[in-house]
Amino acid sequence: MTAVLMDGRALAAKTKETLKEETEYMKKVGVDPKIATILVGDDAPSKVYLASKHRTAEEIGIRSENHTLSGFADEAELSDLIDSLNADPSVNGILLQLPLPQHLDSRRMIDRISAAKDVDGLTSGNMGLLFYGRASLIPCTPRGVMELLHHYTIPIMGSRVVIINRSTLVGKPLLHLLLAEDATVTVCHSKSRDLLGITRQADILVSAVGRRPQFVVTREMVRDEVVVVDVAMNRVGGKLLGDVDFEGVSPKASFITPVPGGVGPMTVIMLMENTLVAAAKQHNLKEASVLQ
Ligand SMILES: NC(=O)c1ccc[n+]([C@@H]2O[C@H](COP(=O)([O-])OP(=O)(O)OC[C@H]3O[C@@H](n4cnc5c(N)ncnc54)[C@H](OP(=O)(O)O)[C@@H]3O)[C@@H](O)[C@H]2O)c1
Repeated sequence: MTAVLMDGRALAAKTKETLKEETEYMKKVGVDPKIATILVGDDAPSKVYLASKHRTAEEIGIRSENHTLSGFADEAELSDLIDSLNADPSVNGILLQLPLPQHLDSRRMIDRISAAKDVDGLTSGNMGLLFYGRASLIPCTPRGVMELLHHYTIPIMGSRVVIINRSTLVGKPLLHLLLAEDATVTVCHSKSRDLLGITRQADILVSAVGRRPQFVVTREMVRDEVVVVDVAMNRVGGKLLGDVDFEGVSPKASFITPVPGGVGPMTVIMLMENTLVAAAKQHNLKEASVLQ
């Protein structure tokens, strides 16, 4: 059998059209959504990711602006910038590009962002709401994974899902989203024993390790008809690869995401959707379709 490709690029393009219409509607009723991003330092991959976020915002009609601080900026300087964006009523969403330079406390800086403008869904407050199934601003990558599973009508209720990742960005929020839809979820990490024994039981396997070539999801690690979601981004010899040995695993799988073109485009589009959700909530636009 050959797996069906879960085409994140196509789904993101389709979602983009819906978000364009939603943005037009919001502008007609007097709300002009805007996202502000913050870059500290000059990390090259961060710049590439930010450029793609600003490009997508522009295509949708969402206003966007970037604020760059020097890599030597201290917490006081970054806090001042975040405070000023929190207080600016024309800014609906704030994204702090990660990773921050080592001398800054990421958790403290993320928590400085107003929960209502936290379009990455990473503040402790929004994470807590996610735990209770009440969050409206949900971290973009896990949300993108859920959208892909829904779009391809992958059964989630009662399914055994294995996530290889326990980070705040990916594994922990995804665990809660899947639990809320009645999956049986196992979260693995670098200290997990018998990983192969665990992954072979998965109906749905989500891998987000990003340590290639040391870590690769091989054909032996999956069972027949598994659904594979590859979140990872590894640069190997100038090429972008996920965690999964695509050639080996796809003949065994029923569905699989490509890298690139799987979860990546969904992450960016979910950020845009979160920006519209934040804007709609701030203006009490109950009839906005992003709030339905
Ligand atoms: N496509 C997208 O839009 C998108 C978005 C976000 C992230 N990503 C990608 O996803 C990957 C993970 O990102 P992250 O920020 O979550 O990174 P991270 O914080 O470094 O998390 C990596 C996870 O992999 C686990 N791990 C490491 N080696 C392992 C091994 N040998 N066996 C099993 N688990 C192992 C780690 O375990 P410990 O916790 O024990 O260290 C950790 O939980 C990266 O490649 C990143 O580029 C992609």
